[in-house]
Amino acid sequence: MSDNKIVFEHAVTTFTHERWDADGQDAPFALEALEEGKILFFPHLSFSLTADEIALLDPTLVDPKRKNISFQPLKNRLTGVAATERIPTVRHLLERYYQDCCRLAAAILPLYRQTLHSPANTLRLHPITAWTNTTSWRKDDSRLHVDAFPSRPTHGQRILRIFTNINPNGENRSWRVGEPFPQLAQRFLPNLGRYSPLNSWLLNKMGITKTRRSHYDHLMLQLHDAMKSDRDYQQYGPQLAVDFPPGSSWICFSDQAPHAAMNGQFMLEQTFFLPPEAMKNPRRAPVKVLESLLHKPLI
Ligand code: SIN
Ligand code: FE
Repeated sequence: MSDNKIVFEHAVTTFTHERWDADGQDAPFALEALEEGKILFFPHLSFSLTADEIALLDPTLVDPKRKNISFQPLKNRLTGVAATERIPTVRHLLERYYQDCCRLAAAILPLYRQTLHSPANTLRLHPITAWTNTTSWRKDDSRLHVDAFPSRPTHGQRILRIFTNINPNGENRSWRVGEPFPQLAQRFLPNLGRYSPLNSWLLNKMGITKTRRSHYDHLMLQLHDAMKSDRDYQQYGPQLAVDFPPGSSWICFSDQAPHAAMNGQFMLEQTFFLPPEAMKNPRRAPVKVLESLLHKPLI
């Protein structure tokens, strides 16, 4: 269906940078594209690994109870490493990736310099196909979705993510990307379940959520689930396949840009949160889009 084709240039903006301490010449252009919900793609921005770090590229290094190895640089908290003797090498790798991501963000997104917060990153060692075959539909990230965390409400904070494919065998990270957020929201909003403040209070009391789910968090989770459980939307909804080769990096607001991970193995991912008010154009934030469609505050 021609309606459902997405043009590459409408979903992805490409940059030629080869360095994490890039010059900021493209900054206004990058900011505009990112806030529109596009993916910023850096085909030549690689993250080099030492021989010791290449030896970490083995799925058995991940604690079998977890999906990924995770690091919170400001708390120096590392979780999910199965082999104790490798902890210092993993910590060093993830700290180094965090520092490079900070340099890149400072250069090409200087407006957010003071406001990006709560950094956390992951080392993703499993092939995507390993978990798509075994998890429930809700956790299956090979279905188009926008990111929303069941246990960690964001209260409208943006989720900014930087990714780097570090596959040593030439394998792409293959994604599908989807339609613009306002179109997505209009499509699914009529079918999303009602918000119950009492239920949110209970989930928080029971320790299922870290803070109380706002109406916004409820809607984003409903949207995430409605997208993933809709077979027709997954198959025929607006989408475009995009390959990220080894040695490339990309950035998006993953709460806004529909995405699905189809193939690949070995990736670094850096998350930052950002208050919507820190955006150049806060009206593009999912919370503002949903509030204007529903004509009421959601936080
Ligand atoms: C996701 O954020 O949905 C998964 C991205 C990936 O693992 O490539
Ligand atoms: Fe996701």
